[in-house]
Amino acid sequence: MERIKLAIEKAKAAEVDSARSDAPLLRRVRGSEASIGESSSAIRREVPLGDASPVHYTQTAVVSMDAAHLDRHRVVSHQKTHPASWAFDVLRTQVLQKMDENGWRTLAITSPSVESGKTVVAINLAMSIAQQTNRTALLVDFDLRRPSVARYLGLNRSLSLNDFLDGRANVGDALVNPGIERFVVLPTNQPVTGASEVLSSSKVGHLIDDLRERYSDRIVIFDLPPVLAADDVMSVLPRIDCVLMVVGSGVSTENEVEEAMSRLSKANLLGVVLNKDEAPVQNAYY
Ligand SMILES: Nc1ncnc2c1ncn2[C@@H]1O[C@H](COP(=O)(O)OP(=O)(O)OP(=O)(O)O)[C@@H](O)[C@H]1O
Ligand SMILES: [Mg+2]
Repeated sequence: MERIKLAIEKAKAAEVDSARSDAPLLRRVRGSEASIGESSSAIRREVPLGDASPVHYTQTAVVSMDAAHLDRHRVVSHQKTHPASWAFDVLRTQVLQKMDENGWRTLAITSPSVESGKTVVAINLAMSIAQQTNRTALLVDFDLRRPSVARYLGLNRSLSLNDFLDGRANVGDALVNPGIERFVVLPTNQPVTGASEVLSSSKVGHLIDDLRERYSDRIVIFDLPPVLAADDVMSVLPRIDCVLMVVGSGVSTENEVEEAMSRLSKANLLGVVLNKDEAPVQNAYY
């Protein structure tokens, strides 16, 4: 725990591009085995109906999700009564403020090491953004080595990003709406060979541009691999407006966090999320 706190202090002091971004946003997302994993009621009941003009997914496939499955994978943002849901809403507000200030619409989520909670944060943050009636959120699984968004959401679609990359499908055919308004997912079903080269290809470059430009109210979140695992993150990051780093408490060493921060030095770092931390919620702000 201590080593993470030290690392976070250094992260706080790390240089960011001050012309385009203020000091890094730091936010703890508290979540223990006990707090993320409680039972939930049906998703439909928990999601506020909100918008006066509901979105109709004429082209995007709509599937329903299983509440118990989501609970098991710590997906909680669809339940406003869940104790961890508030943390993602606060994170959402801070992230959107920073992105709006700078005109950014694409956000990468990474971490120094594996198993830090990137995918859990990416899914919950995207869901929380989608609950704002003036936004849509698109979550793209760009962890081409260990894709897990579809598994965590319980999606079982035959078409995915793999088919688009292999030229077998249009991207629109692989998009799916998991039963929550304004929330769309581009899943990856299988690990991709040559992930780094694929992420730096012009095909992926055009895809990112297309996903960003199609709707002006859309925030696109890319779930990436760990920054220290390979050069995938460095390959794709220049094409994404800004990045959020998830540090798992007790997962990464101070040196790993430092090294990851230095590799992100050219990117627009929005901030660091301290995940899996057991500190009391009332002390959770920096
Ligand atoms: N706040 C939390 N509290 C407890 N466990 C958590 C928390 N966040 C995530 N986990 C658990 O940690 C594990 C790793 O989470 P997740 O898959 O989101 O991490 P990741 O950084 O995306 O991993 P990978 O590097 O493999 O992609 C999962 O079992 C997840 O349920
Ligand atoms: Mg992941």
